[in-house]
Amino acid sequence: MAKLWAGRTAGVTDPVADDFNSSIRFDCKMYRQDIEGSMAHAAMLGAKGIISQQDAATLIDALQGILDDLNSGALEFDMACEDIHMFVEQVLTERVGDVGKKLHTARSRNDQVALDLRMYLRSETQEVIALVQELLAAITAQAEAHKASILPGYTHLQRAQPITFGHHLMAYAMMLLRDVDRLQDALKRLNVSPIGCCALAGTTYDTDRWMEAKQLGFDSVARNSLDGVSDRDFCVELLSGYAILMMHLSRLSEELILWSSWEFQFVSLSDAYTTGSSIMPQKKNPDMAELVRGKTGRVYGDLMALLTTLKGLPLAYNKDMQEDKEAIFDAVETVKMCLQVFAPMIATMTVRTDNMKKAAQTGFINATDLADYLVKKGLPFRSAYKISGQIVAKCIAEGKVLETLTLDEYKTFSDLFDEDLYPEIDLNTCVEKRSSEGGTSVQSVEAQIAYVKACLKS
Ligand code: ARG
Repeated sequence: MAKLWAGRTAGVTDPVADDFNSSIRFDCKMYRQDIEGSMAHAAMLGAKGIISQQDAATLIDALQGILDDLNSGALEFDMACEDIHMFVEQVLTERVGDVGKKLHTARSRNDQVALDLRMYLRSETQEVIALVQELLAAITAQAEAHKASILPGYTHLQRAQPITFGHHLMAYAMMLLRDVDRLQDALKRLNVSPIGCCALAGTTYDTDRWMEAKQLGFDSVARNSLDGVSDRDFCVELLSGYAILMMHLSRLSEELILWSSWEFQFVSLSDAYTTGSSIMPQKKNPDMAELVRGKTGRVYGDLMALLTTLKGLPLAYNKDMQEDKEAIFDAVETVKMCLQVFAPMIATMTVRTDNMKKAAQTGFINATDLADYLVKKGLPFRSAYKISGQIVAKCIAEGKVLETLTLDEYKTFSDLFDEDLYPEIDLNTCVEKRSSEGGTSVQSVEAQIAYVKACLKS
């Protein structure tokens, strides 16, 4: 069959070229947005007298029928069509005859596809944000339950200072809050309507771009028609936001994998989010967390793919830009799947506070507090640091810990040591005294939890 654009050419292409060129197998996802956009366009054409009000009403009515039929499954996509825009116009013309051929007045697929994509990603990103907020709620609930559960905090993956598990989890909450903020910020620049830019140069018809933009929920219109049809910054910004979000999920995944290892046993993931091995009967593998970590690479790839596609494109629309959709659809679907599995995985994990505490008791994570004790007795920090290091070395050599060294042994290092040392190096004291803003004390963590909850509410 000849294409809708047959005219200059016969509109008959090689089937292999057809397949290569067509995008309906993925842009059919945007059918709702395509039809809503067309309804707004028909309404504007009618209101401005570019077509008759009666034709506009016929078009809107028929478009609504197509939308309903696609929603119900009564109408199926015709994969022989080049793209979703051509498909809708074809069905419309089949249903209402020549009136259907008027819809594309003062419009091009170039502004149409940019419009559809913005609308589609606006709603998908709102879903992503809601899923991040669900994960934030799950993390915050676990943090609240474990605001006093002590474990070693690590730097260089070496035991460093005692912290609470609630404190550790709230670090991830802060990252995810930034992710929400980043996506919301990107939505501001996304929410600019390109419709009415037409092919590239605008139009000779007396259109009302603001009318269409308002009907479709946009804050403003693209101020330059060349930019309107060729801008894909909103895709790049969203992909960057998704990539950073995935990086955060991947870091938490890595910790969950480590914590659920036999060596750590800090958490036990619910059976619902683990798998077994086909050969080793004892295995309980953290596959979901590993997959999230793995899929992060894929979302980074989507970002790189689009940046590379756009680099070097002359103004305005180029067919290369059709490649934007598969990259960003893949990213948005991946991110949504990861978030859907992550929130319940966090909510249902069992936290092994006993093992965390045991780990905290070795590794000299109160050595900083030992040095601080001497500082409070008047020694300069660097000298106190040195003495404490020597005491740690003695403990390591003799298989002891700071808590079990006698006062006499301490006194061989400095006269400043006294009985009041022992409560100072108690892990609970070490945590409680770190009450600086953002610190690990129960009170500080409670403040962090309250902050995140307030952000979630607003
Ligand atoms: N399928 C195309 C895309 O996704 C729609 C725009 C086509 N425009 C054109 N001038 N061929 O980019």
